[in-house]
Amino acid sequence: MEVSALILAAGSGTRMKSKKPKVMHEILGRPIISYVLDTVHALDIDRIGIVVGHGANEVMEALGDSYKYIPQPSQLGTGDAVIKSRTTFEKVPGYLLVLCGDTPLLQKTTIARMIELAEKENPSCVMLTAKVPDPQGYGRIIRDNWNNIEEIVEERDCSSEEKMINEVNTGVYLFKIDDLWQALEKISPDNDQKEYYLTDVVSILHEQQKITLAVKSHNLEEYRGINNKWQLAEISSDLLELRLKNLCLDGVTILDPKSTYIEADVTIGQDTVIHPNTILTGSITIGDDCEIGPFVHLIGDNKGIQIANNVKVGPFVRIRPPAEILDDAKIGCFIDLKKSKIGKRSKVPHLSYIGDTEMGEDVNIGAGTITCNYDGKNKFKTKIGNRVFTGSDTMLIAPIELGDDSYTGAGSVISGNVESGDLAIERTKVRVIKGWGKRKNSDSTGKES
Ligand code: UD1
Ligand code: MG
Repeated sequence: MEVSALILAAGSGTRMKSKKPKVMHEILGRPIISYVLDTVHALDIDRIGIVVGHGANEVMEALGDSYKYIPQPSQLGTGDAVIKSRTTFEKVPGYLLVLCGDTPLLQKTTIARMIELAEKENPSCVMLTAKVPDPQGYGRIIRDNWNNIEEIVEERDCSSEEKMINEVNTGVYLFKIDDLWQALEKISPDNDQKEYYLTDVVSILHEQQKITLAVKSHNLEEYRGINNKWQLAEISSDLLELRLKNLCLDGVTILDPKSTYIEADVTIGQDTVIHPNTILTGSITIGDDCEIGPFVHLIGDNKGIQIANNVKVGPFVRIRPPAEILDDAKIGCFIDLKKSKIGKRSKVPHLSYIGDTEMGEDVNIGAGTITCNYDGKNKFKTKIGNRVFTGSDTMLIAPIELGDDSYTGAGSVISGNVESGDLAIERTKVRVIKGWGKRKNSDSTGKES
């Protein structure tokens, strides 16, 4: 059976009170709609249309060109949104799965059950309904004397009796494509909102003696939609918990899930320990047996951070992308590191800023060493060879290269290259003034010594 998918994402999302289109708000670093798309992809559906309206350009730019975008210039209702996709899907056989872009918890297995039922019974429509304790806000499912679905009535159009019905429309449908277009020709905006309701298709099918079947959701959470930023926060926090749980089940040790935030595009290897107050955002790969945290913020963005095996990062470290830290290296504590590569077994252990730097293997960076990479206009590179040792508080004025096995003296400002095996030291001779302290003390008490 052929199944295509249509995702409705043109609505303005007024209740989000935001300049951003609703489906572009992020959960664990990914847009809400990408969760719905993941589910559709997981079902091996490749013909996917997305109805866009509010913020259409932003949505299209973020999701790329593997989808068919269907513009809906004015948001005249869910029925109108589907009508706009007619030319795209008219000649396509089989069924059209219609989903909303704002329901990231929807389960693949639930939709698979809908598809199975359609395959078995060949109905005009299979919809996902749910029996809920509080049906407020949802369209109610009205059944006829034979228990067949007769119509869906929106809350605002419900009589007080209909409001008591607790079987609701989740907004997920599988329509037989030919029957869908015929029914959509008959819908009208004759309702409280003066919109074209997709839900009216169901009563039209019933009048035509065509069958709509229901699959009931086993999971009371999965159809929860995001309409405001508190719902966004709640669902984000639920998905975060699930994410941390799955990481643990895959062999990662997370000492304090309550203070740990790990986004969707982060992968972590076995036996890596994540200490409290660790924040991992964007694209990050961490290998096996690492120690990350406490108080670490790794910002992968889309440029990425790669951390190999047995690396220690923390406490109090921030890393910005792109960054690559190789096996057995150590970063922390109080380190700000950006756009740098750190070689195997190298250590950046205390109070440093390392930026635009390529560092070799077995390097020891002294406490307080700083790569001075910025002159106010441009950024410059620092290249540090293998087995280099910088003394504490070395300032490396980039562009600069330190050859293999070279050294810098503590407190030096190094503004030129250091050749392999050399020591660079920049330090004025200490001047000692005999008895100065003693005299100062006696001055302050007023007594002669
Ligand atoms: C809809 C259903 C309701 C169901 C509920 C489940 C209708 C008329 N009602 O109501 O029975 O219980 O979902 O959550 O369908 N959209 C467009 N273009 C439009 C209007 C909406 O693309 O012109 C998109 C929205 O972006 C959103 C989705 O369609 O993703 C649903 O629209 P929304 O306004 O949230 O419908 P509900 O009132 O929640
Ligand atoms: Mg809604």
